[in-house]
Amino acid sequence: MKPILPGSTIGILGSGQLGRMLALEARRMGYKVQTFSPEKNSPTGQIADLEYIADYNNAEAAKEFAHAVDVVTLEFENIAFDVATAIETVKPIRPRPSVLHTAQHRLREKTFLSTNLFPVTPYRRITTEADLEKALSELQTPCVLKTAGFGYDGKGQAKVNSLDEALVAWRKLESDEAILEVFVNFDREISVVAARGVDGQFTPFTPVENSHRHHILDVTIAPARISESLAVKAIEITHNVMNALDCVGVLCVEFFVTHDGNLIINELAPRPHNSGHWTIDGCVTNQFEQQLRAVCGLPLGSAEMTSPCCAMVNLLGDLWQHSEPDWVQILSDPAAKLHLYGKHEARIGRKMGHITITAETMEALAVSITRIKNILGIGS
Ligand SMILES: Nc1ncnc2c1ncn2[C@@H]1O[C@H](COP(=O)(O)OP(=O)(O)O)[C@@H](O)[C@H]1O
Ligand SMILES: [Mg+2]
Repeated sequence: MKPILPGSTIGILGSGQLGRMLALEARRMGYKVQTFSPEKNSPTGQIADLEYIADYNNAEAAKEFAHAVDVVTLEFENIAFDVATAIETVKPIRPRPSVLHTAQHRLREKTFLSTNLFPVTPYRRITTEADLEKALSELQTPCVLKTAGFGYDGKGQAKVNSLDEALVAWRKLESDEAILEVFVNFDREISVVAARGVDGQFTPFTPVENSHRHHILDVTIAPARISESLAVKAIEITHNVMNALDCVGVLCVEFFVTHDGNLIINELAPRPHNSGHWTIDGCVTNQFEQQLRAVCGLPLGSAEMTSPCCAMVNLLGDLWQHSEPDWVQILSDPAAKLHLYGKHEARIGRKMGHITITAETMEALAVSITRIKNILGIGS
């Protein structure tokens, strides 16, 4: 396969912050960018050469979009399978439609993982109240009930301790298909973001540690404070997952680390991930450039860290409810870097931007995180 060289046009499905950061890298490297989504003046569209406005389910429009670009990639994995396959008849789409099909649906994803013997928490498919009753009698509580499709940032999921709670949660989901899974009493959550090229070249970033607030990623710390052997194991699992999916591009595996030091896969994202944003300021090559290189058939870059420790703090719309955060005070730390996504409306829980900080030691990093969180008024 001939590489897709600078000067060519990258087509991005989706138009949020992940596409924006990809588009920034693509432009830096001399590529043109077009974005496909129903939104106008979107975070990605503000950076792209052309914003193609159409519904995600419009296969004809998606094909027309594909004709205008050299390769199609995505920042949003909930593209319908038939739309992705329609695109594939026109131009390469990376990752391939089958990867999206698996990763966009929690049940298909868990089934793929468990049939390939990857570690996952016990789960059951739920389509009726009777299923729920049976599943609860078989699984250990507490459990988490999640919609099978279209969940993100903790939306469409509830922790349940009993059948009564589960029934309430099920009715509230208003979905015809869900997954009930055993709640993992984890020691910590980590993730591995990695890139895989057209030729199978695999380049992982160091495993990172994630903490959530209200089910939304709050802080990522790199590297994760885990043993070397666990880090190696997490990377090996990620490599095997990408190979099993034949995934070209960037993929994130979210893991739970149990108290006895085992890894359980929580979920997959076949695209750059929020827990990889720190790589923009903390690595030789960031996750977005890696995605670009992978989907263009170029050699992958070095994923080495450029400082010993790095952290990312998410900026949610909540912070704008009274006034704009105090950027001057935040930036008075010379190691702090601000990223804002160009979103027009700061809604509660909406990802508006992030801040990265680098440090020589974990202790110094912790001090910087606390300082930033205090300025933002979100405690620690
Ligand atoms: N089975 C589980 N056991 C323990 N915590 C869970 C479980 N499922 C989800 N969570 C918590 O909720 C967060 C969000 O759930 P996740 O399945 O990753 O959905 P999303 O697509 O919203 O990221 C996880 O990062 C974790 O903190
Ligand atoms: Mg998640």
